[in-house]
Amino acid sequence: MACGAPQALDAGHPLDGFDCGRPALNEWLVRHARQAHASGSARTYVVVDDQRIAGYFSLSVGQIDSLEAPDRVRKEMGNYPIPVVILARLAVSLAHQGRGIGVGMLQEAIRRTLAISDLAGVRALLTHPIDEAAERFYVRFGFEASPAREQQLILLLKDARRLLAPVPARRSPAEAASRGGVSSWGSEGVKGSC
Ligand SMILES: CC(C)(COP(=O)(O)OP(=O)(O)OC[C@H]1O[C@@H](n2cnc3c(N)ncnc32)[C@H](O)[C@@H]1OP(=O)(O)O)[C@@H](O)C(=O)NCCC(=O)NCCS
Repeated sequence: MACGAPQALDAGHPLDGFDCGRPALNEWLVRHARQAHASGSARTYVVVDDQRIAGYFSLSVGQIDSLEAPDRVRKEMGNYPIPVVILARLAVSLAHQGRGIGVGMLQEAIRRTLAISDLAGVRALLTHPIDEAAERFYVRFGFEASPAREQQLILLLKDARRLLAPVPARRSPAEAASRGGVSSWGSEGVKGSC
């Protein structure tokens, strides 16, 4: 069964029962995501597998004080606030973890951040990892710690762009398929095997 590309959350998506192993992230999706989406405080995108939510991520926009940003992000920004897109939440259901959906959604969040940056200034993608395991996930993809705030990680947009570039496969397609992994990613979105 192939996972479709992330879709904007709508009234028909079956949110009940989503379990990523982190109650706060489950509860936010089930109880608050639709309201946040409707009010415009956060846009949520879901990956659906056979009528179940395999994963979701949410985006907002904001700004941070330049002192909160790593040197490379502050560079050439003076003391002005730094505009960011906030990856407010990202979670994959326990049943779907380890199949490339998390990194696929991160790539999709970056694509959407780049699209926003075509219309308005955006310097970086920012996130607040829920725990140390989540932090390791993001650091692995180049996010840097804020020098001033705990649990705040920042990825410069030009570094984020590199995560979308084709890279030599670490796994063969056959190996990926045998793991039930994502088989390909494209500008059209996530194409995974759920
Ligand atoms: C963290 C999370 C999103 C990862 O999603 P996933 O779909 O299981 O991850 P993927 O299969 O896309 O993994 C991509 C790569 O990252 C690695 N990875 C996954 N979780 C990792 C972690 N916590 N730390 C370091 N690396 C990690 C995988 O091993 C994989 O590497 P590989 O390609 O060399 O095998 C998922 O485990 C999750 O939802 N956890 C609970 C909620 C959470 O922590 N959300 C994070 C934001 S607060």
